[in-house]
Amino acid sequence: MSFFKCLTLTTKDKEKQNAVVMGRKTWFSIPEKHRPLAGRINIVLSRELKELPGAHHLVPSFQEVVQLLKEPSLVKKIEKIFVIGGSSLYKEAIDSSYCSKIYLTRIDHDFQCDAFFPELDTNKYLLIRDAEVLQEEQEENGIKYRYEVYKRHAQL
Ligand SMILES: NC(=O)c1ccc[n+]([C@@H]2O[C@H](COP(=O)([O-])OP(=O)(O)OC[C@H]3O[C@@H](n4cnc5c(N)ncnc54)[C@H](OP(=O)(O)O)[C@@H]3O)[C@@H](O)[C@H]2O)c1
Repeated sequence: MSFFKCLTLTTKDKEKQNAVVMGRKTWFSIPEKHRPLAGRINIVLSRELKELPGAHHLVPSFQEVVQLLKEPSLVKKIEKIFVIGGSSLYKEAIDSSYCSKIYLTRIDHDFQCDAFFPELDTNKYLLIRDAEVLQEEQEENGIKYRYEVYKRHAQL
C-alpha cells in the first residue's frame, strides 16, 4: 500500500496531480474515510450510477475516460494516469494502446481469490529494470513478493 501510495501520489511537477481511474467496485472497496484517494484526481467508471459523491469524475465507459483526459483543463492539471483496477478495467487498459507501463507486484503465495489480473501478453509487454522500484525480493509477514515493471513495445 505504501508503494502504491508513493507511486500514484508522486509528481515531478508540483503544480500537477496524477489521476487514478477505477471501477465502481474498487471505489467502494476503499474505506469511506479514504475516498477520494487524497492528492489524486479520482475517476470512477460505472454504467449504472448517475452520481457518486466524493468522486471527482464519474464516467460511463473507458472511451469516455480517454475523452475526458484529453480535455485541456485536465491535461494541464494531470501528470500521469494510473488505472487501479478491477479486472475488466485492467484488461481494457492493457489491451488499449494508451497503456505504456504496468507496475505489477508478484506475490509468492497462493490465496483464494475472486478477482484476477488479466493474462499478460509478454509479446506486447516487456519486463524492464526500472530504477523507480526496488529490485530485490521483499518480505512482509513471512510472505515474499517482488515488484515488476513491464513496458509496452514501442511499435505495438
Ligand atoms: N489488489 C489490487 O491491485 C486491486 C486493484 C483493484 C481492485 N481490487 C479488488 O478487486 C475487487 C473489485 O474488482 P472487480 O474487477 O470485481 O470490479 P471493478 O472493476 O472495480 O468494478 C466493476 C464495475 O466497474 C464498472 N466498470 C468497469 N469497467 C467499466 C467500463 N469499461 N465502463 C463502464 N463501467 C465499468 C461497472 O460498474 P457498474 O456495475 O456500476 O456499471 C462494473 O460493474 C475489489 O475487491 C477490490 O478491492 C484489487
